[in-house]
Amino acid sequence: MKIDGKSYKTIWFENNLVKIIDQTKLPHQFVIKDLKTIKDSINAIKTMEVRGAPLIGATAAYGLVLSIIENNDLSFLKKSSEELIASRPTAINLKWAVDRMMKKLNGINEKDILKIALDEAKAIKDEDEGFCKNIGLNGLKIIEEISNKKKGTVNILTHCNAGWLATIDWGTATSPIYHAHQKGIKVHVWVDETRPRNQGANLTSYELNEEGISNTVITDNAGGILMQRGQVDICIVGTDRTLSNGDVCNKIGTYLKALSAKDNNVPFYVALPSSTIDWSIKDHKQIPIEERNSEELSHVEGIDENNEIKKVRIYPQKSKSLNLAFDVTPAKLVTGLITEKGICEASEKGLKGLFK
Ligand code: MRU
Repeated sequence: MKIDGKSYKTIWFENNLVKIIDQTKLPHQFVIKDLKTIKDSINAIKTMEVRGAPLIGATAAYGLVLSIIENNDLSFLKKSSEELIASRPTAINLKWAVDRMMKKLNGINEKDILKIALDEAKAIKDEDEGFCKNIGLNGLKIIEEISNKKKGTVNILTHCNAGWLATIDWGTATSPIYHAHQKGIKVHVWVDETRPRNQGANLTSYELNEEGISNTVITDNAGGILMQRGQVDICIVGTDRTLSNGDVCNKIGTYLKALSAKDNNVPFYVALPSSTIDWSIKDHKQIPIEERNSEELSHVEGIDENNEIKKVRIYPQKSKSLNLAFDVTPAKLVTGLITEKGICEASEKGLKGLFK
């Protein structure tokens, strides 16, 4: 997708370096950062310079490439893979990508290992781009149907950033929106600000602006009243891990939006590539929910009138806080899953019908 009219992907490999767009600087500064070592890659994931389930996976894959460039020893590679998996616990794409790379590299000799690692990391990146494009083409049909029925602008509510910045290109939840816009369908997006890190306000609104798509940032608590007023036609969100029974783990606050959507008969869709499906666990209580630094809650960052980025505390130093980063929306609240292979019911039967 485009920034200042120029097309970018979120990650690429050049001259033995991994290039990323530093998302902690957006929307105020557009900075391309070099990752030189495995430590840089782990740090980029931990500090959320890169974030979003599919992009975390691709960064981990390229992290292993950097690990091989640094030190060809197998024990170093194994340690790198373990540290990568531990860097953020909830998004399953991270483990999925590391496991896929390690399986591919198993038994490969020193002479060939770098080339094979690079090819596999590129395959993961290219595959995700294709998956997200197809998610868009499949989801487009739903937006098109609403538009034909309504004969007016389709109002879509989204949470967090499941946009192109969270993937390699297109995004998951945003891909149907970009495809609809390119087809000339009138869309408007309600963007949940997504406290505490404000991925909606900082990233989703930013990328929609760059693509010329009408959007309005709202507080996380505003979705309910907008739905009661009939101002939301459809919710589309992303996911960090979807269980085989259709339960969806995503950014904190997604569950409350789904409850609200159910109460107001607003369709609630989740967009995901198959790399986000966790076939291994059955009970959502087994999903490790990331608990992040309380400073993300107690402080906000923004730009002042002198264009300087400032961070300020917003509540008493003494106050305790709890910063859970994800929640789980039960399958019964999900209208459907939009995947690269088609749209299915949020259930084992639905997912197996497409993927097994
Ligand atoms: O903590 P983040 O910013 O990595 O969380 C991102 C999300 O929750 C996204 O909705 C999810 O990863 C899907 S991204 C296509």
